[in-house]
Parts: sequence; structure tokens; C-alpha cells
Amino acid sequence: MSDSAASILRLENVSVVAGAKPILRGVTLDVPEGSVFGLIGPSGVGKSTLLKCCNRLTDLIPGLRVEGSITFRGQSVLGRRIDADALRAKIGILFQQPAVFPRSIMANVLFGVSHLGSVPRRELPMVAERALREVALWDEVKDRLTSSAIYLSVGQQQRLCLARTLATNPDVILMDEPTSALDPQASEVIEQLILRLRGPRSVVIVTHNFAQARRVCDRVARLALVHNIGTVVEIGNPAIVAAATREEE
Ligand SMILES: Nc1ncnc2c1ncn2[C@@H]1O[C@H](COP(=O)(O)OP(=O)(O)OP(=O)(O)O)[C@@H](O)[C@H]1O
Ligand SMILES: [Mg+2]
Repeated sequence: MSDSAASILRLENVSVVAGAKPILRGVTLDVPEGSVFGLIGPSGVGKSTLLKCCNRLTDLIPGLRVEGSITFRGQSVLGRRIDADALRAKIGILFQQPAVFPRSIMANVLFGVSHLGSVPRRELPMVAERALREVALWDEVKDRLTSSAIYLSVGQQQRLCLARTLATNPDVILMDEPTSALDPQASEVIEQLILRLRGPRSVVIVTHNFAQARRVCDRVARLALVHNIGTVVEIGNPAIVAAATREEE
């Protein structure tokens, strides 16, 4: 599964420097299409930074320089001519804390897709319903789509954020510790969703939770600091990589 035909996202020799400080060096990995790919490793090793490189969110961080090659479906992500908004529609992201705006549930789901202007207005309600159904939130919110999203539980807010990402119909969803702010029940709902997304979509997930990596990931890359710079030191089966990591700690 490591040839280019099967990988949706490929990173080759990626390095990131913040000002004069190297953060990541020589990261090479392939995300097989339709898989859930995990990133694990200690705090500060560069997991979040690596995720943000994949859809150019690093452009928004002053002083950060990304080198090497990142391709999505064989096309360079780092090229100057790339439309970053269009790229982020295809490679969406979900953060640790649900970033819900103090606006209606409907406005939250449609935030990205409205900004892109890629869907005719009359189709927007259908897009919202499809996304909310995909995250199993539709039945819980269908009678209050115009109410403020801030009154939803944290678990519901996280599913709303996932729906907002899904509304632009991404091929890849980057997830940065998506369950660490949630209680066990809400975490389980998100994990079930990840397993359902797998196949039609690909997921790259940062997790600190080895049990979660074993439950949801097909493969994981373990990052570690080498000479104080983050890099991938192992890629493989989540059970084996997680076990090795625990022995080291
Ligand atoms: N804009 C920046 N300027 C300078 N240093 C930065 C910047 N962004 C991140 N760093 C540094 O890069 C390193 C990696 O940060 P990052 O947030 O990617 O780590 P992480 O593996 O996601 O950690 P955690 O598990 O705590 O979330 C850290 O040392 C951090 O301080
Ligand atoms: Mg992080």
C-alpha cells in the first residue's frame, strides 16, 4: 500500500523551521487512500505542525517555513499557485477544542461551503442535512437549526465541527486529538464516526491515546525528538508501534 497509486497524501523529506528553530526534519510518510493514519509521539514533537502542513494552515503562522514535498493525489500542495481555500475544502481539519461560532447551527455547518461559494444557494439546506446526518447529529438538531450552536454539548459541538468540515466534501480529514476534550461517551461517538468515514474518505489523526490508535488506525507513524528536532522514527501497525512506545516511556 506504499506505492503512489494507493496513497492519497505523500510527504517526502518534509522539514519545518520556525524562524531559526528547526521543528521537524526529514519526515517521509504515505497515507493510503481510504485509511485512518495515526500520528503519535510526545508533546512538542511537532504532530500538530505536521498536520497543518498538509493543508497549508502553516501559511497562517508567521515565520514558519515548510520544505520538502507534500503531494495530494500526486499534486504538490506546497506550490505557490495552489488555491489554499480550495485545498482546505479537499483536506479538512478538526481540532481538539470544537471551534463553534456564536451563530446558528445551520450557519456553523455551512460556514466553509458558503465561503467557497461552490454550491448554489438553494442546495445549501440539503448539503447541511447531509453533513449533519453523516455525523449522526441530524435527529438531535433538526428542530433547532436556527438556534445558537453554543448551547450544544461539547460532544455535539465537536460533531457539528466535523459536519462543517464534511460539508465541503473533503477527501482527507485531518484530526488533531479530536476526542481529548470529550467525555468517554462522546469520544466513542467520534471514534465510531471515524470508522465510518474510513473508505470513502481518508483520515490522519493525532492521538495521545494508544488504545484509541489501536481501535481506529490502520497504520501509525511514531514521531520522536532526535537532536531536539521532531521526526518520524517508526511507521507500522498501531498495536506494535503503541506497545514499543509504552516500553520506551
Ligand atoms: N509558530 C511557532 N513558532 C515557534 N515555535 C513553534 C511554533 N509553532 C510550534 N512551535 C514549536 O514547535 C514544536 C512542535 O509544536 P507542535 O504544537 O506541533 O507539537 P505537538 O506534537 O502537536 O505537541 P502537543 O502534543 O503538545 O500538542 C514545539 O516545540 C513548539 O513550541
Ligand atoms: Mg498538538
